[in-house]
Formats: sequence, C-alpha cells, structure tokens
Amino acid sequence: MTLPNAIENQIGNGIENAGAQADLEITAVPERRHVLDLDDFSRPEINALLDSAKGMAEVLGRDIKKVPALRGRVIVTLFYEASTRTRISFEEAGKVLSADVINMSTSGSSVEKGESLLNTALTIQAMSVDAIVIRHPHSGAPYLLARHLDRVGIINAGDGMHAHPTQALLDLFTVREKLGALEGLKIVIVGDVLHSRVARSDIWGFAKMGAQVVLCGPNTLLPLDLLGGDGGQIPTELASVKMDTDLDRAIQDADVVMALRLQSERQHSGFLPSVREYIRRWQVTEARLTRAKPGVLVMHPGPMNEGIEISSSIAHGGSSVIEEQVTSGVAVRMALLYQIANQGR
Ligand code: NCD
Repeated sequence: MTLPNAIENQIGNGIENAGAQADLEITAVPERRHVLDLDDFSRPEINALLDSAKGMAEVLGRDIKKVPALRGRVIVTLFYEASTRTRISFEEAGKVLSADVINMSTSGSSVEKGESLLNTALTIQAMSVDAIVIRHPHSGAPYLLARHLDRVGIINAGDGMHAHPTQALLDLFTVREKLGALEGLKIVIVGDVLHSRVARSDIWGFAKMGAQVVLCGPNTLLPLDLLGGDGGQIPTELASVKMDTDLDRAIQDADVVMALRLQSERQHSGFLPSVREYIRRWQVTEARLTRAKPGVLVMHPGPMNEGIEISSSIAHGGSSVIEEQVTSGVAVRMALLYQIANQGR
C-alpha cells in the first residue's frame, strides 16, 4: 500500500527517527494550536487536512494498523457528556499513531468532588500531556481551556449546542471522497438544526468549501440566531446559506441529505406539535429521496432515532454513507491528532 509522499515522509521519518521529530517536514497542514470550530479554518487549510486524512485512511487499510508517528505523546480524552463514536474514534486514532491515550470520564474523577473544569484541565496539563480532547455540555468550554492552558493543544469534541468541528471535518472528508469535490454541491441538512452542534460546524465547513447549504425543519428548530434572524449580523461566509421549512421542496436536486437527531434532551418545551407530525413532514424517506439528484448521499452524524428523522430502509440502504462517516472519523482524527499533539517538536 503506498501513501501520498507528504504523509509517507512524515510517517516514515517517524519510524526511523522517532526521537527526532523536530526534523520532520510537515508541509501538508499549516500551523495550528487548537481545533475549536471551523469558523477560523481557511479553505486551503481544510483541503490540506483532508489530504492528510486520506493518507491516514491508507494506514487504516493496512494489515497492521500501527505507525509510530505519535510515539511518546500523551493524549487525554476528557468527556463530560456521553459519546460512542467520537470518543472511540479519538482513542483508536491516537493508538494507531502510537500515542498513549488516557480516557477520563467525569464519574469516578475529582469532578464528582466539585473540581472546576479549569482546575481539572490544569491538573491534566501538569502531567505533561500533549493534547486534550474535550466534550462538555457548556458552549465555550474548550475556548476557556485554550485561553488558560499554554502547554497543551485543545480539540473540541462537542461543546453544548455550539460546535463539533471534528465531526464536520469527517463529514467533509466523506463527501469529498464519495463525490470528488465539495464546491457547488447542494447540501440539505434536515431536522433539529437549532440544537445541533454538528450542524453548526457543518454549516461553516460546507459553506467555506463553496457548497450550497440548505437548512430544513420546523421553524422552531431552525437556527435563526446563526443566520441573523434575531437581528444580528450574518457572517459573510454564511451569506449563501438558505432555510426552508418544506423538505419536499428543499430536497429537490440535493447532492447530499443529512438527517439530524431530534435532541429531546435539549428541548425543554414546545418545539414540535407532535412527533407524528414531525415524521410526516421531515422524515427522510424513499419517496422524498426520489426528488434528490441520482447518486445522492444520505448522512447522519449518529446516534440515530430510526423511524423518526430517518426511515430504517434509508438509514441502511444504498444511498446511506452513515457507516463511511464513522470510518472517516478515525482517519480525520488521526490527521488532527498528528498535528495538534506534535506541535512545538
Ligand atoms: C452528535 C453529538 O454528540 O453532537 N453525535 C456525534 O458526535 N456523532 C450528535 C447527537 O448527539 O445527536
């Protein structure tokens, strides 16, 4: 199996020269200390990262999935919220690159004794950790750490309703791999957009790459705040993003349809007339999908409520790339960890 030159050089040098990685030439991805959201990524940076992830995907396709690129680096995953895909894929990504990965969950830790997020993170930093991957129910938590910690890279694995940049990057990667390019594609994101940090980061990512994003769902579940509907300013990069409450209209000629989970844990009252009504108007079904472009990709970040936002036959049907999204997640997180946990060396 051959790797693109840049990645082969990086990984190959790592094998022969594990102690001298300062000499590595990392040309693929520009310098970055933290990954907090995609709003501060440029299109070339995203492309470079996706190229790097492609090389990582080839490592994952090998018989022996292990390279020493992060040998001697320590990564802590610090999760204050439940996770399956994100947590396991970060752990796998770190381990395939030979980092030592320590998973910390709040139960059983000093968080239960009332330790603050910042003091917990300072404690972890004091143990010479190279990167912290954090998921937290409060929007902005990873930014707090990035402001106060000076010796560790921070990767946001989901903060409140705000952002989930690594999920968005794996979504971009999946679509680019399947359709060859992102520019000019019509991406329909349907469901509980308001409460979805995945959607918020996807909007930035797809819009920055030149795709046309259409958000769809009940009025009450569309992010009017993000697009200036509450009187605020629309960021120029998001000026082309559209909203439509009619899925039959929005799905017309779509290249990608992404369904989102109804996040009942974040909905405190009155967002929907009834689940039955929601299913009738916004479920992604076979009949609706016939209006999209031939070869349309169906995505979902998981976890799914099958039979609510997406029909089971679509979730597991020929258009679905939901499992490919999960597979891409490992490669994309390898590319991110390689960059963030290696900095300054
Ligand atoms: C999402 C999350 O936690 O933000 N899942 C994920 O990371 N793939 C979406 C969700 O919870 O619905």
